[in-house]
Amino acid sequence: MPSAQVLRALHGDITRLAVDAIVNAANTSLLGGGGVDGAIHRAAGPELLVECRTLGGCNTGEARLSRGYRLPARYVIHTVGPVWHGGLRGEPELLASCYRRSLKLAAGNGVSTLAFPSISTGMYAYPIELAADIAVATVRACLPEYPAIREVLFCCFSSDDLQVYERVLNSK
Ligand code: AR6
Repeated sequence: MPSAQVLRALHGDITRLAVDAIVNAANTSLLGGGGVDGAIHRAAGPELLVECRTLGGCNTGEARLSRGYRLPARYVIHTVGPVWHGGLRGEPELLASCYRRSLKLAAGNGVSTLAFPSISTGMYAYPIELAADIAVATVRACLPEYPAIREVLFCCFSSDDLQVYERVLNSK
């Protein structure tokens, strides 16, 4: 990837990040939920749900774009990660697809700074080490296609998750 593109992990609340777009780990209804999804809807305000109702849902592994409303981020990219069932039901491919589709949508909308949460590793129970490997490998593989994306952040909600992401980022 061109050296000017930066990938890094940080510990924090994704709703506070002043990036062009944040990614939401949503469910197929796109109508809100718990975890990071609930936090994003609360911080963005009710207009986000109004727009989400017009999006018609989202299949697992796909992504949809909305505005960010009261968030510092201009856009929210909603993606639906797989529920972990042991890893033999296409979970790795579906999780990689979330990162790929989100990057594509970001690039198509002029985003240069983007932050991901750790998709599927909360309520959907994807093991964090496996998910972090896929997140980092997929973003690294796709970024050269999108030179206008300057920075991708992996926003970790716990210091344990941050350690996992930092280990993966530093080991490859
Ligand atoms: N900022 C960054 N990361 C966060 C935040 C936050 N404010 N809040 C939670 N996380 P989850 P999933 C982390 O459960 O596993 C929802 O109900 C959290 O600690 O939010 O993809 C949806 O509607 C974890 O590391 O998403 C779906 O029904 C990560 O975000 C379902 O949960 C993902 O955890 C999706 O489950």
